[in-house]
Amino acid sequence: MTASMAKLSVRGANVTYPALQHGGSVVALKDVNLEINPGDFVVALGASGCGKTTLLNLLAGFLSPTQGELLLGGKPIVGPGSDRGVVFQKHALLPWLNVMENTEFGLKLQGVAKSKRREIAEKNLELVGLQDFHQHMIYQLSGGMQQRVGIARALTCDPAMLLMDEPMAALDALTRETIQELLLDVWQHTHKMFFFITHSVEEALFLGSRLIVMSPRPGRITHTYELDFNQRFLTTRDARTIKSSEDFIRMRETILGIIYGDERAAGEPELIHV
Ligand SMILES: Nc1ncnc2c1ncn2[C@@H]1O[C@H](COP(=O)(O)OP(=O)(O)O)[C@@H](O)[C@H]1O
Ligand SMILES: [Mg+2]
Repeated sequence: MTASMAKLSVRGANVTYPALQHGGSVVALKDVNLEINPGDFVVALGASGCGKTTLLNLLAGFLSPTQGELLLGGKPIVGPGSDRGVVFQKHALLPWLNVMENTEFGLKLQGVAKSKRREIAEKNLELVGLQDFHQHMIYQLSGGMQQRVGIARALTCDPAMLLMDEPMAALDALTRETIQELLLDVWQHTHKMFFFITHSVEEALFLGSRLIVMSPRPGRITHTYELDFNQRFLTTRDARTIKSSEDFIRMRETILGIIYGDERAAGEPELIHV
């Protein structure tokens, strides 16, 4: 499949989780429609419990929709595949393998010859700035470096799409900004589809070429924005000026208003009909 064909479509997706013990079933996603093209950086934002992870799990193929369909390059998504790389919130690296071995692991599973997979892994480790850390063990790395390995590993099978579920949530503010900039460089360099979940409005605005805002009960996409702050960064390399610009701040306040409204609504007790 060539990259240009590898468009992703979510059509009328619903996800209902079955009832837990005493509660009713949970409609986690309702009528979600989404088109992602190569080179799109889609960021999902929304109150806790609005279905962001559920949507990512559909894209990853970890979960099937109760209704609707997902297509990648015109073919239904029926399970996980090497055409989609996932970076988790808490890195899911193998502690008994070093940085290089972790990065080439997917290719090893695919049976790619050692010299070939080393060459590919080396290229991706360089892309995330870890060219001097091949032999390091995972516990010897900072949290930010561990996430870099996670990104390199996800890229190594050359997926059409990179899926990230709050990958920066555990990082300190400075490291977070560095990895944000790194991600934009990787995005520009690879021109892959990115789907990125975050809790941070600032992060969402800075990274996304498209922002989807989701709302809980039932989880659905309520707002979509096309953004160009990421392009401005790639042109100017000046994140601080962009994040403190008037239009960035205005946008941030608009989105915060939407999400705070949802959080407040979610905090109110539900009416129980008996
Ligand atoms: N495996 C599951 N079984 C039942 N309910 C679930 C399951 N996973 C998530 N949920 C519920 O579905 C809703 C959406 O969850 P999730 O997709 O994790 O939201 P988010 O990532 O936006 O916080 C929540 O109400 C959550 O409690
Ligand atoms: Mg989540």
